[in-house]
Amino acid sequence: MDMDGGSLPGQRSGLQTLLVVALITCGCQLWVDANSWWSLAMNPIQRPEMYIIGAQPLCSQLSGLSQGQRKLCQLYQDHMVYIGEGAKTGIKECQYQFRQRRWNCSTVDNTSVFGRVMHIGSRETAFTYAVSAAGVVNAISRACREGELSTCGCSRAARPRDLQRDWLWGGCGDNVNYGYRFAREFVDAREREKNHPRGSEEHARTLMNLQNNEAGRQAVYNLANVACKCHGVSGSCSLKTCWLQLADFRRVGEFLKEKYDSAAAMRIGRKGKLELVNNRFNAPTPEDLVYIDPSPDYCVRNETTGSLGTQGRLCNKTSEGMDGCELMCCGRGYDQFKTYQHERCHCKFHWCCYVKCKRCTALVDQFVCK
Ligand SMILES: *[C@@H]1O[C@H](CO)[C@@H](O)[C@H](O)[C@H]1NC(C)=O
Ligand SMILES: *[C@@H]1O[C@H](CO)[C@@H](O)[C@H](O)[C@H]1NC(C)=O
Ligand SMILES: *[C@@H]1O[C@H](CO)[C@@H](O)[C@H](O)[C@H]1NC(C)=O
Ligand SMILES: *[C@@H]1O[C@H](CO)[C@@H](O)[C@H](O)[C@H]1NC(C)=O
Repeated sequence: MDMDGGSLPGQRSGLQTLLVVALITCGCQLWVDANSWWSLAMNPIQRPEMYIIGAQPLCSQLSGLSQGQRKLCQLYQDHMVYIGEGAKTGIKECQYQFRQRRWNCSTVDNTSVFGRVMHIGSRETAFTYAVSAAGVVNAISRACREGELSTCGCSRAARPRDLQRDWLWGGCGDNVNYGYRFAREFVDAREREKNHPRGSEEHARTLMNLQNNEAGRQAVYNLANVACKCHGVSGSCSLKTCWLQLADFRRVGEFLKEKYDSAAAMRIGRKGKLELVNNRFNAPTPEDLVYIDPSPDYCVRNETTGSLGTQGRLCNKTSEGMDGCELMCCGRGYDQFKTYQHERCHCKFHWCCYVKCKRCTALVDQFVCK
């Protein structure tokens, strides 16, 4: 599939003009960096039918949007609910993937969402940007297919060459092309309107964010696949209809987690571009995550870095992995508790057709970091 068919149908030039206008008029010095579009995930957005198109109460009320994002909001008000849902999906996936790690992607408040740790250009920050951008592609692509948005519909992706000849192509697919392009405009707007001097630390961070946003979008785009449905006399499957379908978001999360593990350490080079710290490694591709700062110490609470520390976290006494008490508690030791755990047990299959279980209570040990 071609990735660079670079414009939203019929909207791009107007959009670019608006972004340029936004850049000139905003001045952008009063940037409150902690405030992010991520907050759309935390604060419920009114459904589109709740406000009058053109009146624009929505966009001025939403906090966390940059100037350019606010303009996009005015043009695409009906998209905002899905951006919020996408961000929420991304955050949930982040918390799932990192549930057993010292940094567990916890949210701290409604405005900055992840707190100060995002000021540090770490691997963890890289993952967060990627997975939330991916969430937006996912949500918008699906909303197009479901007919929820006025500017897009079912996917119009070309028939894959390797699709079996007698299978039909053209069921209503997830519009991942549109989702990708819209997310690029929206999510990156915030970075593009910054005007940091080339080669500065801030510029390096902007480049890092852009790379990781793109990696997240590409993950969703590239993992989208062909799905088919059988037709024909009583399930004979003599006829198949196929369409483009988003991958389960868990797969996107797993894919990006692998990218997190292999993320590339970068620094700003003399030409004002990011370059590898260790050039024995391969240069990152657009699918890869990059970071510019070492991770802060996630073991102890630190107001300066925004680390929450691992005190009070549950850990696994017998595991030797990151969820094990030794690593999770950073050698500080742990407290042991007994708690009752309820579970379904003694399940029996009854003819026909249900399963009946008992509820058992077990006294289990739990371990909590000191
Ligand atoms: C944060 O958002 C939640 C959910 O919308 C809301 O209940 C809560 O009051 C908000 N908190 C603040 C401090 O705005
Ligand atoms: C918090 O982190 C900063 C920056 O890494 C460090 O200089 C400082 O010593 C830390 N403070 C505590 C209380 O650990
Ligand atoms: C994540 O870490 C924070 C801070 O240590 C903790 O309060 C929270 O309960 C953790 N969440 C999960 C799901 O373990
Ligand atoms: C603790 O870790 C061990 C070893 O990895 C695993 O077999 C066990 O299921 C874990 N226990 C819990 C409660 O997760």
